[in-house]
Amino acid sequence: MSLTAEQVAAFERDGFLVLPDAIPVARCEELIERAEAIVDAFDPATVSIFTTDDQVRTTDQYFLDSASRISCFFEAEAFDADGSLRHAKAVSINKIGHALHDLDPTFDAFSRQPAIAEAAASVGFVDPLLVQSMYIFKGPHIGGEVACHQDATFLWTDPGSVVGFWVALQDATIENGCLWAQPGGHRGPLRRRFVQDPDTGARFDELDLTPLPEPGGPELVPLEAPAGTLVVLHGLLPHWSDVNRSERSRHAYAVHVVDGAARYPADNWLQRTPDLPLRGFAGAGTLHP
Ligand code: FE2
Repeated sequence: MSLTAEQVAAFERDGFLVLPDAIPVARCEELIERAEAIVDAFDPATVSIFTTDDQVRTTDQYFLDSASRISCFFEAEAFDADGSLRHAKAVSINKIGHALHDLDPTFDAFSRQPAIAEAAASVGFVDPLLVQSMYIFKGPHIGGEVACHQDATFLWTDPGSVVGFWVALQDATIENGCLWAQPGGHRGPLRRRFVQDPDTGARFDELDLTPLPEPGGPELVPLEAPAGTLVVLHGLLPHWSDVNRSERSRHAYAVHVVDGAARYPADNWLQRTPDLPLRGFAGAGTLHP
């Protein structure tokens, strides 16, 4: 399913492209089942709360190590004051990351399916490398906000190359916290980079003080997406998603791709261990030992 010239032009104009019915719903359901099995097997004693709060994340070795692992992160509101889970473990997880696509056969095959590989080829990758994957739960009542950001903040290359491939595994609507994006916002500057720091683990380096769009403000448009929709996101595109206070979960999966033809800085937060080199789209099913 290569993209048409009109679709590529829309991506270049807007910084995003919404492709309904790109992924079979049965494959989405298979991925949901696999993610639930991973959470089932996860021992919450190795806790990491995922929030967009700088302090929590920058001091968290568990987060840095997740570059080469399958790690579960809890919602910020998952625990009460005593440190006990408020809800069942299965609905308290915010996300799983960040090497699912290279460590789990189901995620490997899903990430390298033709719809995603062909969309990547269509938007101009020379040497696409799958660098990061995340399964996002956005559970009913508890699913947290993702602050307005640019993906290149977390995955900078020189020149910039990161593109996100985001799949709605369940219907994403305004009420359960769909993506919102700023049309054309990818032509703005990169605001900051998330880099490794020898003292604190990682930190944000501010690059440009141009403000990002206000959450819920007029610059952002909702990208409502039925299950099976593939959303392609330019690495500089500001995007945001709200809390999910609805009754319905909003599971999604995102894989981020960088170009091997670009330089990947040694101070990016995400550094894979040497035994887990980055791979492209070819060779699904040939996971590292
Ligand atoms: Fe993002």
